[in-house]
Amino acid sequence: MSKGYCLGIESTADDFGVGVVSFKGEILANINDSYVPEKGGIHPREAARHHADVAGKVITEALKRSKIEPKDLTLIAFSQGPGLGPCLRTGATAARSLASYLNLPLVGVNHCVAHIEIGKLTTGALDPLTLYVSGGNTIVSAYESGRYRIFGETLDIAVGNCLDAFVRESDIKFERGKPLGRIVEELAAKGKNYIPLPYTVKGIDLSFSGLLTAAVSLLKEKKYDVEDVCFSFQETAFSMLTEVTERALAHTEKKEVLLTGGVAANTRLQTMLRIMSEEHGARFSVVPKGYSADNGVMIAWTGVLSYLHGMKVPIEKSFVKTKWRLDEVEVPWVEKRDIS
Ligand code: ATP
Ligand code: FE2
Repeated sequence: MSKGYCLGIESTADDFGVGVVSFKGEILANINDSYVPEKGGIHPREAARHHADVAGKVITEALKRSKIEPKDLTLIAFSQGPGLGPCLRTGATAARSLASYLNLPLVGVNHCVAHIEIGKLTTGALDPLTLYVSGGNTIVSAYESGRYRIFGETLDIAVGNCLDAFVRESDIKFERGKPLGRIVEELAAKGKNYIPLPYTVKGIDLSFSGLLTAAVSLLKEKKYDVEDVCFSFQETAFSMLTEVTERALAHTEKKEVLLTGGVAANTRLQTMLRIMSEEHGARFSVVPKGYSADNGVMIAWTGVLSYLHGMKVPIEKSFVKTKWRLDEVEVPWVEKRDIS
């Protein structure tokens, strides 16, 4: 295995994250600074301004934490897409400046691939069926013939977005900076009564917009406890996710199930998937908490895998790809796993 260190920059949405990893997959630093809007959802240009303001500080802190000098770096990786244009461009600019100043190769990483690779690195999963659930994505995927194929996905909004919008559109109180999905999880843990809500699964695809509208109007009716609505909302959404994962597992016959992405932090979702996986004799694993939400480590590690398979991008061609799909990316390292 070639020796080296990669610094990875994540900036697809509200987080500006920097990670440092060795080429062997040791994690040396994971520093993050999140943009928290005053109210409402993420404003892309405001988030990008935040990223530009904190970039220098976060990069310096990550290098300090990793205990390596800039001259020890071998590679710079950045999240090239998918994501919000202004945010992606700010991260890309920081990465290009570092690569050019330090005279290092640059690798552009697909954010969705990175969520899968960090899950595999941190759990030891080798060839899993992956449920990737976050604010912008809901994807059931598995490796097949050179790529992570998409077996099922949301037909409208992502499950994380559904949870976040539910909290924002109701008058549930929330602490600034705390993930909104976490607030639903805490309230749901105190709920007991199930109120039926729209359950929409089409083959291995799903839809969350009807569930969101119905759950928000249930709360507005004020007939039910907020805890019971949160409980019913989670039970419905997570049963849908478990059903599509189970269908894909039966179809692909994989022996492992991996849960990754920001919503993977939810313990109720973890429990449902664990039970389903065990019933099928599949090994279940979940990405550890520090790496479920967006982070620079996943970008750095996927950068290493890409670079060791000859994938780099010249600075003049390192434009961002806001709609870059998971299944457009070649992942040659999966077939040839042994890079040592
Ligand atoms: P992507 O670009 O991959 O879609 P993202 O910008 O949405 O990423 P992530 O950090 O991967 O960022 O995911 C954030 C989502 O995770 C938010 O919707 C947040 O509410 C959700 N989340 C965080 N913790 C929990 C939890 N405990 N339960 C449910 N959802 C959670
Ligand atoms: Fe993400």
